[in-house]
Amino acid sequence: MDAIKLPQSESEGSLFVYLETYGCQMNVSDSEIVASVLRSAGYGLTHDPLQADVVLLNTCAIRENAEQRVRRRLEFFRARKRKRNPDLKIGVLGCMAERLRHRLLEQERLVDIVIGPDAYRDLPRLLRQVEETGQSAVNVQLSREETYADIAPVRYDSNGVSAFVSIMRGCDNMCAFCVVPFTRGRERSRNAATVVQECQELLDAGYREVTLLGQNVNSYRDGPVDFATLVYRVSLLSPQLRIRYSTSHPKDCSEALLEVHRERPNVCNFIHLPVQHGNSEVLQRMRRGYSAEEYRELIERARRICPDVSLSTDIIAGFCGETEAEHQDTLSLMEEIQYDHAFMFMYSERPDTYAARKYTDDIPEETKKRRLSEIITLQNSISRRRNEMEIGRTHTVLVEGASKRNPEQLCGRTDTNKMVIFDQGTLQAGMYANVKIKGCTSATLFGEVLSG
Ligand code: SAH
Ligand code: SF4
Ligand code: F3S
Repeated sequence: MDAIKLPQSESEGSLFVYLETYGCQMNVSDSEIVASVLRSAGYGLTHDPLQADVVLLNTCAIRENAEQRVRRRLEFFRARKRKRNPDLKIGVLGCMAERLRHRLLEQERLVDIVIGPDAYRDLPRLLRQVEETGQSAVNVQLSREETYADIAPVRYDSNGVSAFVSIMRGCDNMCAFCVVPFTRGRERSRNAATVVQECQELLDAGYREVTLLGQNVNSYRDGPVDFATLVYRVSLLSPQLRIRYSTSHPKDCSEALLEVHRERPNVCNFIHLPVQHGNSEVLQRMRRGYSAEEYRELIERARRICPDVSLSTDIIAGFCGETEAEHQDTLSLMEEIQYDHAFMFMYSERPDTYAARKYTDDIPEETKKRRLSEIITLQNSISRRRNEMEIGRTHTVLVEGASKRNPEQLCGRTDTNKMVIFDQGTLQAGMYANVKIKGCTSATLFGEVLSG
């Protein structure tokens, strides 16, 4: 995901903070919590890193290249501090902070503050400590309870239409390849009443779409409220409010949840169900908790209960020991399922994970690259085919704002999570429009507005 910057400077606050976000939607949501904590403590937020007194990078550790990007950015700010602004304070937040606390502070002396994802309430104290002592400050304590349930996120980079709502934190799954359980700690669910309340407040503020966030939303539980019940409750707030969620783990995607999709028109007809691989032995080595057959059955059930459901996935190429035949199984599964969209990655070994401790990262770089590129080529052609099938159909689109390609036009998403571009007419962000699809690429649909 691209770095996110604040849209405009604010006048309040004696010190200005620039906050840049890497990684997944959880991190975007966390940055909104951080912005709230900082504002309450009297800090101003700026979109201009060169005007900032404090630069904070909210980081991702999921793959080696994600970390390298952040390191390069840190080098840039450190050089600036040395040459231009010795008072500049630099902080690392999020998943890399958790993983690299010692190295960042001691060995590399790159930063002034290191703060993990469960310690953001402590950020003002750490900033003061750095100001007062000139020493670096750290808090990477993970928590079993922290959900920031009472903190109202400051949605500083929002389009005012669509918002993330964090419903749980951490992950207990321990997939063999994944660093997240180490960087974000134990799984815990946020109180259901505060989730519903936050969604109501977003609706009142004019938002028309919420995405409920967690690493494995299907294992959400607050007393008697499971995930299907939570989605159902949020869906009752208003037919005008669309509900999405991410990420749904295939091993416990319940029938009850699929029924909620079917029954509630404002629960979007789209599910992100990361398969990771198409071969059961590889899935077992990955410790995903399902076989390729079980995954196929789940997709069948989803399509039976929610006809026309749109599906996306995550896929990893070149996991430890992956044979050519196993790789072919991923391609066949993709061909068979026909995902609308996929996020595709080359396996990157992460220190301390089960895979790093027990297996050998034995697939040569060139082979990983070639397999990934075969996966991407196949998915692009499937996405194009799926999009071509949309031509002639009419969708209800939630208008998000100006199109990036052509500011004269608007963009918005279908219920099935496809981006559509269309003429503005009398439409505005936050309105629903009926749009007839006239053309497409593998990534975007082009449409004509029938009625707003
Ligand atoms: N909680 C989500 C995944 C979050 S991480 C789930 O279980 O579905 C997002 C994606 O990054 C994963 O689905 C996986 O495809 C990819 N990923 C995670 N660790 C990786 C690694 N070590 N190398 C390559 N890709 C990885
Ligand atoms: Fe990582 Fe697996 Fe948890 Fe997803 S479910 S965050 S892949 S450990
Ligand atoms: Fe990255 Fe942490 Fe998200 S490792 S993908 S920012 S949970």
